Amino acid sequence: MTTTLVETPREAADLVALLTTREPAEEAALFAAADAVRKEHVGDGVHLRALIEFSSYCRGSCKYCGLRAANRELQRYRMAPEDIVAAAVVARDLGYRTVVLQSGEDASYTGEMLAGVVREIKALCDVAVTMCVGERPEADYALWREAGADRYLLRIETSDPDLYATLHPGMSFDNRLRCLQTLRRLDYELGCGVLIGLPGQSDESRARDLLFLADLEPDMLGLGPFIPHPQTPIADALPADLTTTLRMTALARLLLPGAHIVATTALGTIDPAGRERGLSVGADVVMPNVTPQQFRALYEIYPGKICINETPDKCRGCIELRIRGLGRHVAGGKGGRPKDSFPQGVDRE
Ligand code: SAM
Ligand code: SF4
Ligand code: FES
Repeated sequence: MTTTLVETPREAADLVALLTTREPAEEAALFAAADAVRKEHVGDGVHLRALIEFSSYCRGSCKYCGLRAANRELQRYRMAPEDIVAAAVVARDLGYRTVVLQSGEDASYTGEMLAGVVREIKALCDVAVTMCVGERPEADYALWREAGADRYLLRIETSDPDLYATLHPGMSFDNRLRCLQTLRRLDYELGCGVLIGLPGQSDESRARDLLFLADLEPDMLGLGPFIPHPQTPIADALPADLTTTLRMTALARLLLPGAHIVATTALGTIDPAGRERGLSVGADVVMPNVTPQQFRALYEIYPGKICINETPDKCRGCIELRIRGLGRHVAGGKGGRPKDSFPQGVDRE
């Protein structure tokens, strides 16, 4: 393998080669290159995003997800607006500068209700607010942006329209794309990503996912390993493997040197040191859970999720220790678009 291949893997064939190689030296070169690009472009700071999982109700049908509407065995919960705000205040008091409001697709929260939550959080806390509540009408996205929401996470899940159709009955790939375009037009900082290791996905399809994301140029990227949930139609599928997930993370860093890339909770679930491994091959963000403890186990996207029995302050301390163990530090500031946060493009705190 040539150095050029690792430095500029812009062709699908190069990406496939790096996803499939069985040469430990090639994998090591890929990981080292990604880590160097991460250090050069976004620095050693690790941004913390406090995750509030405020509702497990979902009208969605995604075949991989434990929250899908058809899963009648899941005990559902909804947090009241004032409790969501209270969770954000807990996050603020623990030193977080970003809160992520995540839920299933739960229409019982109207656009105006969530706008009120955003307004209240922005009034009480000096934090960036990231929304992650799925596909909604443009009017809702606009309302939340006006209320002060800064960012939006919406993964494309897979860039293959046929695979998308198989895994999302009743949903539309085109609508997902439209939502991403709308969010960008409304000037949200945009987060996107894919699920790695979905049944029916190949290395070729993963390579196309990377090229799709490179073309979209999101500000943030979440590349999560698929973990099968027993109460879904694809319960028997194999989970994603660690190596593929790490290679995807590294390649994403090479393709999008200035993006914020998450070492996901799912990565920490498939391997106890998964988040640290992700941070070592290109990632610069983690999303510790600040959901009140009584709800954590109920937000069961996939089984075995980490941090189910911990409290927000326990996770805050734990994650900082893990970051320091890597010789890195928790980044100051809200960690917005790198070019906005760090005029030189590098967090050198
Ligand atoms: N409902 C919103 C949406 O779908 O965009 C936000 C919440 S959803 C639970 C957040 C993410 O969870 C999805 O984008 C998906 O990639 C991930 N997810 C769902 N099921 C999963 C599974 N079985 N394994 C790993 N990640 C999963
Ligand atoms: Fe609902 Fe999101 Fe899960 Fe799909 S991934 S079932 S939209 S919570
Ligand atoms: Fe939750 Fe480690 S981050 S216990």
